[in-house]
Amino acid sequence: MPDGVHGMTDDLAGFRAETEAQLAAATDLRAWDTVRVGTLGKNGRLTGLLKGLGQVPAEQRKDRGASLNRLKGELEGLIEARRLALEGAALEARLAAERLDVTLPPRPHPPAGAEAGGIHPISRTIEELTAIFGAMGFRVAEGPDIEGDWYNFGALNIPDHHPARQDHDTFYLPAGAAPEGARDNNFGRRPVLRTHTSPVQIRTMVSQPPPIRVIVPGRTWRADHDATHSPMFHQVEGLVIDRGITLGHLKGCLIDFLRAFFAIGDLPVRFRASYFPFTEPSMEVDIGWNRKTGELGKGDDWLEILGSGMVHPRVLANCGIDPREWQGFAFGMGIERITMLKHGMPDLRPFYESDLRWLRHWASDPLAPASLTEGV
Ligand code: DAH
Repeated sequence: MPDGVHGMTDDLAGFRAETEAQLAAATDLRAWDTVRVGTLGKNGRLTGLLKGLGQVPAEQRKDRGASLNRLKGELEGLIEARRLALEGAALEARLAAERLDVTLPPRPHPPAGAEAGGIHPISRTIEELTAIFGAMGFRVAEGPDIEGDWYNFGALNIPDHHPARQDHDTFYLPAGAAPEGARDNNFGRRPVLRTHTSPVQIRTMVSQPPPIRVIVPGRTWRADHDATHSPMFHQVEGLVIDRGITLGHLKGCLIDFLRAFFAIGDLPVRFRASYFPFTEPSMEVDIGWNRKTGELGKGDDWLEILGSGMVHPRVLANCGIDPREWQGFAFGMGIERITMLKHGMPDLRPFYESDLRWLRHWASDPLAPASLTEGV
């Protein structure tokens, strides 16, 4: 048997050329796999040649074996290269077919014939304040509606018989209703529907080391019902704990927030000394408005809008945080209240009445979520 190119015998060179042609003709991975199996598979052509080595006369067997092995290596390389080429081409084709024009504006909605859904004004306010505080580096924290006495009162420096407990018109629940982790944490006091979002201050501080910067939008509950009170309402709590935090940080943060939220760049903001058990000193925050017209930012009247203060050292200590090393501020405000003020809504009750006319009037566009770039 004369040696061909690269020391390969003519039959092997022919086999190689044929396989190459078959690979070139295979334009998808299925056809490619047929060539692969037909060559390298158990009953493939190369496998057959290797099996036949035993019948080759002894003096030619060594050369023949070496040629077959070399050919096997070459064919494996060619087959693999073809697979990569076909996969690359398939990916290119997919990318071309699935190309999206991200510059297209969103389609008008709803689709013809359907009614649009909308974002409830409470949810919208939560989106807006999350965008504003988010830009200041706050994260959102959450906690359960059913709360242990210690989280809702005790750890916040509101002991038994403290008048603040009466102020809260608390809904008490049967023993055993508290969530896991909040049971029997204040000598078996009954669990409550949380009367404010402040317990999430405690939950945050006991579960993560400072520095802390969180807001807590959520549902709260008090046994109270009239045009401006509902037994279920919403608050947003804020908590910042770090080294060297001062009243100046509190004031700057809240002034920026209120001016951004009400979209009044020079909204007058007043800090007034007050009392909360969990802050020292405590301050109530007022914004300037005209009581007669309800217009914000104009006029000589003040409207109380939120409570705030420097976190009481005892509250920090209750959470295992050393008040000599860490300081912070906290604040809490009513979400319905700031929503009503921003939009000039006179009554709180329609928020929960599911009156479709009211909802259609006040709903916001779900395709235009609140963001600072939208001018919140
Ligand atoms: N938890 C208070 C309430 O519901 C509001 C509040 C006042 C929260 C002052 C705070 C704060 O974090 O510092 O009436």
